[in-house]
Amino acid sequence: MRAATLMAMTALASAAAPAFAQQVTARSDGAEVRQGAATVRVVALTDSILRVRVARDGAMPEDASWAVDAATRAAHVAVAPAADGFATKALRVRFAADGRMTVEDLAGQVISADATPVRLDGTAFTLAKTMPQAEHYFGLGDKTGGLDRRGKSFVDWNTDAFGFGSGDDPIYKSIPFFLGVGGAGGSYGIFLDNTWRTWFDFGHRDATTLSFGGPDGPIDYYLIAGPTTAEVVRRYTDLTGKAPLVPQWALGYQQSRYSYMTADELRTVAARLRQERVPTDVLWLDIDWQDRNRPFTVDTKAFPDMKGLLGALKRDGFKVVTITDLHVARAPDQGYRPYDEGAKRDAFVHRADGSVYVGPVWPGPSVFPDFTETKVRDWYGTLFNDQVKMGVAGAWNDMNEPAIFETPTKTMPDDVVHRIASDGFAPRTASHAEIHNVYGMQNTRATYDGLRRLVPDERAFVMTRASYAGGQRYAVTWTGDNLATWDHLKLSVQQIINLGLSGFSYGAADVGGFAGGPSPDLLTRWFQIGAFYPVFRDHSAKGTPRAEPWVDGPEHLAIRRRFVEERYRLMPYLYALADRNARTGDPILRPVFYDYPAALRMGCDQSWTFTLGGALLVAPPPNPEQPRAYDVCLPAGGWYDYWTGSRAGVPQRQDGPGQIQSATQATGQATVLGDRVTETPRLNRLPVFVRAGTILPRQPLVQHSAQVPDGPLQLDVYPGDDCHGDLYADDGHSMAYTRGDYLRQAMTCTVTPAGITLRFAARTGRYRPWWKQMRVVVHGWDGEGQVTAARRPVTAQADAAAATLAFTLPDQRRAGDVTIARR
Ligand code: NOJ
Repeated sequence: MRAATLMAMTALASAAAPAFAQQVTARSDGAEVRQGAATVRVVALTDSILRVRVARDGAMPEDASWAVDAATRAAHVAVAPAADGFATKALRVRFAADGRMTVEDLAGQVISADATPVRLDGTAFTLAKTMPQAEHYFGLGDKTGGLDRRGKSFVDWNTDAFGFGSGDDPIYKSIPFFLGVGGAGGSYGIFLDNTWRTWFDFGHRDATTLSFGGPDGPIDYYLIAGPTTAEVVRRYTDLTGKAPLVPQWALGYQQSRYSYMTADELRTVAARLRQERVPTDVLWLDIDWQDRNRPFTVDTKAFPDMKGLLGALKRDGFKVVTITDLHVARAPDQGYRPYDEGAKRDAFVHRADGSVYVGPVWPGPSVFPDFTETKVRDWYGTLFNDQVKMGVAGAWNDMNEPAIFETPTKTMPDDVVHRIASDGFAPRTASHAEIHNVYGMQNTRATYDGLRRLVPDERAFVMTRASYAGGQRYAVTWTGDNLATWDHLKLSVQQIINLGLSGFSYGAADVGGFAGGPSPDLLTRWFQIGAFYPVFRDHSAKGTPRAEPWVDGPEHLAIRRRFVEERYRLMPYLYALADRNARTGDPILRPVFYDYPAALRMGCDQSWTFTLGGALLVAPPPNPEQPRAYDVCLPAGGWYDYWTGSRAGVPQRQDGPGQIQSATQATGQATVLGDRVTETPRLNRLPVFVRAGTILPRQPLVQHSAQVPDGPLQLDVYPGDDCHGDLYADDGHSMAYTRGDYLRQAMTCTVTPAGITLRFAARTGRYRPWWKQMRVVVHGWDGEGQVTAARRPVTAQADAAAATLAFTLPDQRRAGDVTIARR
């Protein structure tokens, strides 16, 4: 018997059990408790993840989800019952007399506590948690309003938000997951798995209460404990899925415009990119590549030979991604396959009166596939066949909130009827109010699965505007129609940080801003920052000034090119981050506190300081449009200037109130808190720092990712504590890596009394990389050096001015040590 009353189980253990314990029913994997009219079931999925479901009228909500698969939902661990709740190996769950739940770590520190019992109001519900002063909130996807969600409130309703302001809400995505960071019990996350128009309030209405709820739908949420932020994000992606490894070209520079109107124009842009030597991998075709904006067609006047065009571009190292919006033109009997086939299959969503819903979008009157039916998704996926045959490399799913023109709500009516036949839901109809937020995600799922089926051995690349929790399994995303303003440049990083914390590790924002037209300085800055985005795409609207890298003359071009080039040099590092992300969920672009929790308490303005994979810290000017000098706080441990390779920063000590706070516990009068650097903004410099304790893999410059680099793999060693680096390589595009055709190798370095030991761990996978040699550059090196690898001496060159020692090794295929001694 799985459940027994806790009283029965604990009566012997505790003679004086408190009265409220009668309300708690023990389960082998958690407990149930009454909260007024509601029954709350708490199940430990793992020792650190609790699932909380609430029955309103005796019945638990349907156990089905678009975000969390059945096997994951069914996981559970045995718990230890206690008089007032239960414990896992990591958490203690207590219920108060009124059923309120408090979750603590085993040391008794509160992680999260109900402020009130669940409140029900008709179909609506509200959950309230206490909100400690020290806690800050992140996540919820790319919602605007800065980095920290504290003091603000938000609504989840996917919205076509052209030209959104930096505080506008809602915008395109709904990812009802947030993290609490900085509280006594460490970081935790809450994921409310409810697709309706949910809302979150982080002390906006009431400064001491964090509340969230929805107008309808299941009360079904997951409480994910850390204690580190990284553990929370990894566990959230254990629940909702990891983003698959992208093809390597998706990490290259991408050039887009609404629209490159003809084949000639696309060829001209491609040729110019090569002529100006701006490394580029991807060109994008927006809606004008289609016949009358009809998805799955081609404007054959403007693009008479797509196959020939894409073939020629491919030979020059370009991939082409084309837009395919989810609406289908209502064009009966015109030989338009998507409509005819869809109509025959009854694949489109209906109005409440039973007629097919028709709404105006780009092609004019349009109909909308019922993506919540497996069979409709499967059919829709087959429509990409023609594009695949043409040589299209990936799909861009836009307008999938879904956007509808000529209506104040910008979307379909709430009472449009969808059919659900998928994912363990009981087959049924559902209102648009329920499906709206998950509709775009199911569109990308149809596209992604379709591409995977059509070309089973290629990685599918899809970019989406709308999505829901878990959508990272199918598509990368971008922040939609941003503006060419300094505010938006800063906002873009904050959005991408929060996307990464919300499972969407591949975030992009239109470089230069979609609407408005950037000043030359703004576009240059945007290139510099964009070069560190997970997905780096320049895109701009029709009718705005052009935003290709060369548009502002040679001086701006030179700076922009230099940053694009740097990204290509960093490709081995980026690709290793992508591999790690696919396995762990660790974001690629991260807030500094992800890897350095004390950063939250450092003094500098860090509103858009970020790291790329923890080892590279990028610190743009806090007020990017102003020339004022600013301080960068570097977390304790030491940093190098990425551009010069020299040690950066002046150690900071805690001298009194108002100074930067301690990164470690203060033991005496002064504590080293990290380093501080003062930067004066200059257009040709973006401050980037490398953590001391990094082995950074880089490669010789290429013009696109399929070009084989000429020369050795470069390993820059920045000595410091916990020194490490990762190598990852594969063929860059196929699924062969899932069958062992990859290379993964960890490297560490240790500072010894004699110098440094560089250790290569054993390689896994059987992929043979492009490099034959490794060029090692040790930074912060003083004097000459003596290098020994496999018991043989290796010639090394010291450069006193640069403070480096450099030497070349054969590819280190096996585990082994390289000793680097001072001479
Ligand atoms: C809206 C998208 O957000 C934008 O990026 C695109 O260029 C236009 N639709 C036209 O397709």
